[in-house]
Amino acid sequence: MPPNDAIAGRISQRTQPKRAIGAAMMHSRPMAFMRGLTFPGGQQPVILGRDVYLRYPRIADFHAWAELRGESREFLSKWEPVWAEDELSRGAYRRRIKRYQKETRLDSAYAFFVFRKSDDKLMGGCTLSNVRRGVTQCCALGYWIGSRFARQGFMHDALAALVPFVFKTLGLHRIEAACVPANSPSRNLLSKLGFREEGLARKYLLINGMWADHVLFGLLEDEALKMRP
Ligand SMILES: CC(C)(COP(=O)(O)OP(=O)(O)OC[C@H]1O[C@@H](n2cnc3c(N)ncnc32)[C@H](O)[C@@H]1OP(=O)(O)O)[C@@H](O)C(=O)NCCC(=O)NCCS
Repeated sequence: MPPNDAIAGRISQRTQPKRAIGAAMMHSRPMAFMRGLTFPGGQQPVILGRDVYLRYPRIADFHAWAELRGESREFLSKWEPVWAEDELSRGAYRRRIKRYQKETRLDSAYAFFVFRKSDDKLMGGCTLSNVRRGVTQCCALGYWIGSRFARQGFMHDALAALVPFVFKTLGLHRIEAACVPANSPSRNLLSKLGFREEGLARKYLLINGMWADHVLFGLLEDEALKMRP
């Protein structure tokens, strides 16, 4: 189960997003729990899935994160930007957390770690980046899971819980995602979540040291609402 401080700030996105979020916001200025990262008392919002929960990354997660990323390097690196020399160092991790916090305060990106409910094990991460407001109201979704947790339904569980957060809590209208055509796990995952293929962007992102074409996917708020039970 989530740690105690997290339970106090629990947001059940699946069951009653509007009411739960409303209750969470009562302790704070509207939107402040997203921008300021914590509720009064240091509690953080938690998004609950079926077997997983998501919360903001913390400095204290460093060991679990570095161990998981280190052991999964071969599994992950072919689908990601090139890792820095000091990628898994404590200093780089601290800078990463500071950047996440700054971006969240600015409403430009939201990073989450994914944990297994049964034992609080860190299993992976999801990022909502490049949040665009105004007439766009869109963000880009990224995700990864440690190799030992792959293909057990955990990322599907995590993203299914994150989608209502994007539409209901952040109030966005569209989620974009992109993957290399050869990345079948990622393409299948997006399709299973209801994302639709929208085209091919040539040499879209610098992945594993090469400018790689990407299949573009999109999920709209009204499509996501239709899919919910
Ligand atoms: C993509 C990734 C996050 C999937 O995570 P996961 O936890 O293994 O996915 P799930 O177990 O929740 O699977 C959900 C669906 O995704 C698809 N999928 C996942 N792994 C797959 C695989 N190895 N082969 C084919 N389809 C796969 C399936 O449709 C699956 O549903 P199913 O099990 O009912 O067939 C994981 O493979 C990963 O981290 N890959 C490396 C990093 C990466 O590619 N990030 C995305 C860059 S665009």
